[in-house]
Amino acid sequence: MRLEPNPFSGKKRAPYPQHRRSPTPPTLAPKVPPDPSFPYFIHPHTDVITSDPHNNVTDHIFEKIGYNLHKRPDHPLGIIKSVIESYFDEKYGQDTFTSYDSLYPVVSTYANFDSVLVPPDHVSRSQNDTYYVDEDTVLRCHTSAHQLEMLKDGARKFLVTGDVYRRDSIDATHFPVFHQMEGFRVFEQAEWEEAGKDSVDLAAEELKDCLEGLAKHLFGDVEMRWVDAYFPFTEPSFELEIFFKGEWLEVLGCGVTEMKILEEAGLQDKRAWAFGLGLERLAMVLFDIPDIRLFWSDDKRFSKQFKEGMFKAGGVDMQKFKPYSKFPPCLKDVSFWLPKEGDSFTENNLCEVVRDVAGSLVEEVKLIDEFENKKKGLTSNCYRIVYRSMERSLTDDEINSLQEQVRSDMVSKLGVELR
Ligand code: DAH
Repeated sequence: MRLEPNPFSGKKRAPYPQHRRSPTPPTLAPKVPPDPSFPYFIHPHTDVITSDPHNNVTDHIFEKIGYNLHKRPDHPLGIIKSVIESYFDEKYGQDTFTSYDSLYPVVSTYANFDSVLVPPDHVSRSQNDTYYVDEDTVLRCHTSAHQLEMLKDGARKFLVTGDVYRRDSIDATHFPVFHQMEGFRVFEQAEWEEAGKDSVDLAAEELKDCLEGLAKHLFGDVEMRWVDAYFPFTEPSFELEIFFKGEWLEVLGCGVTEMKILEEAGLQDKRAWAFGLGLERLAMVLFDIPDIRLFWSDDKRFSKQFKEGMFKAGGVDMQKFKPYSKFPPCLKDVSFWLPKEGDSFTENNLCEVVRDVAGSLVEEVKLIDEFENKKKGLTSNCYRIVYRSMERSLTDDEINSLQEQVRSDMVSKLGVELR
């Protein structure tokens, strides 16, 4: 099963050169509460879809802002969030870790990238990977975007949960909006002195102990292993994997926070650890939810299966998701020559085009054939688009008109030549 990739170790992808102009007038999104003390984190814009040449937020994505699935107590994401929060309450004492789940997802590029030391040429900054509102403003691609802001605000032990946005391929485990939880804990000098330990060692040990406990709290008595990782914001960095249902599953990334971040917050005499995890991944595994689109479904057959307080560690004796009848998929292939010049065609751009036409009716977009015509100097791709609704049967007419729209948008927006 392929789950959210780690963008910080991902393959390099071409940037998104085409500037999408919104055909509709700008739509109003909620305002950021004015806070004059942190000008870096506040962006001046209230519009999420604008005619700014850098804007690549589609209507489909814009509509997801404010859904706040993680704040719904009976939603699987809300359930996992509160299970994790109660673990922190049990381990460290009630409210020792403060939980934030309403931070606005439109953030400055400074917050999303610079404040957590993402290098200037990092692939995650490209318009192929990230949704830009304008040159300096993005839909956050991780909850780490709030670390420095929270530290400057005086928080020392906290959890931040929120919706995050990434342009990505389409399949059962990838949706361009998902939810993350970030944990952060600052140590005082007295703590490592009392323990008679080096500060980095203490932070790393405590971090591992905390997260192993969390994994047990979620998965029961499972086998786990630590894998060395790389994140720009931590050193050393690790990933925790657990052995679950016969495979090693990566559950989170974490590490000892780079001093540069603490210094920026005026905390040069402290140490800290941080972690980040994806809620969908955990919920899919723990509740046996087979398709990431189900989290967005209004279907009662989905929602009535989940209730606050239903969670039991490791899913032992817990009601799992019972799939209801799946409606048939409809497969459409499209073959085309890639544009000779430029990089307006990327898989992410294709997925965006398809998603903007078909919304959550698209289940998967996959490359099924590729060849080069040396004489013509052209490359041909064939993609299969799988349409399926979670809620009803789709008619042929409906699919055909979606596919026609996709084909014509591929020509006009991606510059491909249909075959
Ligand atoms: N921000 C990372 C991501 O989105 C997850 C993460 C890794 C967060 C390590 C952290 C951390 O705070 O220390 O993939």
